[in-house]
Amino acid sequence: MDINTNTVRVSEPTIMVIFGGTGDLTHRKLIPALYNLAFDQLMPEHFAIVAVGRRAKSSEEYREELYTSLNKYSRNKLDDAQWLRIRDIIHYYQLDFTETAGYEQLGTYLAELDGLYHTQGNRIFYLAVAPEYFETIVGGLGASGQSVCRRGSDGHCANWQRLVIEKPFGKDLSTAKHLNDALHTVFDESDIYRIDHYLGKDMIQNIMVLRFCNVVFESLWSSQYIDNIQISLSEKLGVGSRGGYYDHSGAIRDMVQNHLLQILSLVAMEPPVSLSTDAIRQEKLKVIQALEPFTADTLRENVVFGQYGAGVVGAEQVPAYRDESGVPDNSNTETFVAMRLCVNNFRWAGTPFYIRTGKRLQESAAEIVIQFKSLPNILYFAGEQARQEPNLLVIRIQPNVGVYFQLNTKDFSTQKEIVPVKVETSHLSPNQGNTPEAYERLIYDIMRGDATLFAWWNEVEASWKFADQIIAYRESQRQKFPNYIAGSAGPVKAIELLARESREWWTI
Ligand code: BG6
Repeated sequence: MDINTNTVRVSEPTIMVIFGGTGDLTHRKLIPALYNLAFDQLMPEHFAIVAVGRRAKSSEEYREELYTSLNKYSRNKLDDAQWLRIRDIIHYYQLDFTETAGYEQLGTYLAELDGLYHTQGNRIFYLAVAPEYFETIVGGLGASGQSVCRRGSDGHCANWQRLVIEKPFGKDLSTAKHLNDALHTVFDESDIYRIDHYLGKDMIQNIMVLRFCNVVFESLWSSQYIDNIQISLSEKLGVGSRGGYYDHSGAIRDMVQNHLLQILSLVAMEPPVSLSTDAIRQEKLKVIQALEPFTADTLRENVVFGQYGAGVVGAEQVPAYRDESGVPDNSNTETFVAMRLCVNNFRWAGTPFYIRTGKRLQESAAEIVIQFKSLPNILYFAGEQARQEPNLLVIRIQPNVGVYFQLNTKDFSTQKEIVPVKVETSHLSPNQGNTPEAYERLIYDIMRGDATLFAWWNEVEASWKFADQIIAYRESQRQKFPNYIAGSAGPVKAIELLARESREWWTI
C-alpha cells in the first residue's frame, strides 16, 4: 500500500532508456538510484537499462565506468554480488541524437531486447540531457513510432511508453508552452513525468501526512492561528562548474519556479477529496493560482535579489559569483532571492508566506517554519521584561530530517521563567542533499505509473506565469551586485523584509 495514494501499484516489466547515459546526472543520481532499488528488491523482475550516448564505447567499458561511479555515489555500500546481478542488464547504445535515422535502429534494438528480457514493449524514456535536445529526441521517438502503444484486438494498449523529463522545463512561460506543445504531439500528458527532485524527498511527502493525519495541526492551519510561514532552501555551495547554465537561469528559474512553489503549494493546499493524483494536483494548482499578482510597488517592496561576493564558507576562501567560470564579470543574475507572498484565499488571506533561496550562504539547510500567532501579552507575558516566544512547527527537509515543535514551558532550573523547548523527532541524515534517495522514490513511481510526485502541465504553466513577473522585474533593472558576502546569511534587505513587520527568519 502506498502511503501517498492508498493504492497498490506494482512495477511492470520495462526497458529504461536513458538519453544522456554518459552524463553527470546518470552517473551521480540515476544509476545509483537504480542500483539501490535493486538492492532493496524494488526493481521489476523483467527489466533492462539502455544508456544512450554520443560517444563510442562498448557496454563492457560503460559498465566499468558505472562501477567506479557507484562506488562514489551509492547510498548503500557497493556489494559485488548485487552489482554482478545488475551489470548484465545494463547496455550502452551509441546514437547521435540529431540523426533521425538512428531512432529507427534504436527501436529495432530495443525490440530485440524485449525478446531477451521479456519486457513486453514497455518503455521509460528518460531525458537526462541538456534542454536543447528535449524536442529533438522526442521528435525522433515520435517519428520512429516508439511513442505509441501496441494495440490488442480489443483496441486497448498492450504496453506503455512513458517520458521522463528533467528541468528546466522552458525558461519562461512562452518557451515552456512551446516545449509542452512539442511533447504533446508525441506523448499524452498522462505519460509525461516532469521531474522535480524535491518532491522525491521524504519530508516533502511528509507535509501532507503531518497536516492531514494530525488534528492539532490541521485545525489550526489557517490565517486565524498562523502568523506567517517561512520556506528556506539555502546552500553553502556556489555555482561550481555550472556557471554557464546558471547565469541564464538565476535563483528564480532554478529554485523558485519549481521547488519552492511546489513546497508552498503542499503547505497551503486544501485537503484533497481523495489521495488520487488528480485530486492532489487540483488542490496544489489552486494555491499557485491564488498567489496575489505583483504590482510595481509590491515588486519593489516585497522582492529582494542578491548575488554573492567573495568570502569564506566553512574555512574555505571562495570567489565572487562574477569570478566563477562561465559567468560574465558584469553579470546581473541573482544567486539569492527572498520574497513576501500572499495566498489570496479564505484560508490564508492575511498570513504572509516568506520564501528565500540562495547559494554560498553560511549554512546548507532546507526548512519550513510555521509560526503560530502570539497569545495576548497578559498573565505570564505581562510586563515589559516578559518576552513571548511563539509556537513554531519546523519541518526539516535537509540535512536534518524530521520535525520539531516549539512550545513554552516552565523553566525547572530557575523556577521563575517561561522558556521555549523543542519537542523533536529529527534525526540526522547527512546524505539527504540532492540525493539518490529522492531519485529512487521518483524512479520507482515511474515504474509503477504513479505520477503524483511529478509536476503536471497546468501547475508548470501557473508557476511560470507567476515567476515571469519577477524575472521581468529583475531583468528590467541594473542590480547593485554583489550585495552579500559568501558565507553570510544573504543580503541585509532580506532580513529587513521581515524586520519591518517585526518578524524574523527563524533559522540561519
Ligand atoms: C537543483 C538546482 O534543481 O537543485 C541546483 O538546479 C540546486 O542549483 C539543487 O543546487 C539543490 O538541490 P538539493 O537537493 O541539493 O537541495
